[in-house]
Amino acid sequence: MTQPCIDIHSHFFPKNAPNFAERFGEHSGPWTTLEDHGDGTGMMKLGGKPFRPVHSALWDTNARLAELDESNVSLQIVCATPVMFAYGAPADQAAYVARAYNDLALEFCEGSNGRLKALAQVPLQDTDLACSELTRAMRAGCIGVQIGNHVGDREMDDEGIGRFLAHCAHEGAPVLVHPWDMLGGDRLKRWMSAWTVAMPAETQFGIMSMILGGAFDKLPRDLKICFAHGGGSFPYLLGRLENAWHRRDIVRGESKHPPSHYLDRFSVDSAVFDHRALRLLIDTMGEDRIMVGSDAPFPLGEEKIGGLVRASLDDDPGARTKLLQRNAEQFFCVSA
Ligand code: CO
Repeated sequence: MTQPCIDIHSHFFPKNAPNFAERFGEHSGPWTTLEDHGDGTGMMKLGGKPFRPVHSALWDTNARLAELDESNVSLQIVCATPVMFAYGAPADQAAYVARAYNDLALEFCEGSNGRLKALAQVPLQDTDLACSELTRAMRAGCIGVQIGNHVGDREMDDEGIGRFLAHCAHEGAPVLVHPWDMLGGDRLKRWMSAWTVAMPAETQFGIMSMILGGAFDKLPRDLKICFAHGGGSFPYLLGRLENAWHRRDIVRGESKHPPSHYLDRFSVDSAVFDHRALRLLIDTMGEDRIMVGSDAPFPLGEEKIGGLVRASLDDDPGARTKLLQRNAEQFFCVSA
């Protein structure tokens, strides 16, 4: 009998979302829409243009549950696809969008017999609106929040983002940080480089900003924060940053301690797709700070959810149980 797992990083997109372009005008977007081809496939569109081919597990609860059964996933946590964030739109519009999407996320989880749980999204460009939507969404049934790793040029050490994170800690809302709005511009147009190169760099930048910008020094220790994709490039390049911190004072920023000091302040998911990378991640972060994250149901996600963790930790049942279930149960206050 295969051990069940909790998948903490997966996405949804609703089929029946309101028409935001009609309501707010296309200039405020670009807004994301979904075209259902009726044969189990569809196309996500951004500003009316094809963005990503998708399949029905993205919007159909029963199709999603069938995929969970295939990978023996007992519980999956779903969150918005980052193009839904609307951080570039006026804050009141983003608040409306967040509220609508959060209610649709909860609707997507209904009828899953408790096997699907939702993370909220918030209008992070406005701290007060973000805090109120977080509180509302948690009361409505969300079990935490997903945020992008920056809002324009405001990084994770930004005062407003810090105030939002402190609010999350106060409300007991775990935070998943997802890379988005990738650096690099037109150079990233080929080979999905925005996803394969720039996304890991964005996540690395997010973690680094919290450390060097002094955010971890200021935020309460009970803040639960997890970075997607195994922390991006951060764990692999921690030595480089550590060396720079010791050798050049301009690197240190507001941080009181070298970067490695802060590894017990955050968690990461397991989406690294290679057993050597997972080994490095366990060596760096410890076996208590990694949770299965698949990035399903997108093509760049883990096809057999939890497969890497199961195979890599076949001979270490203690660590395997932590990564598959235990860490997520504690982080999100759920049970497998
Ligand atoms: Co993702």
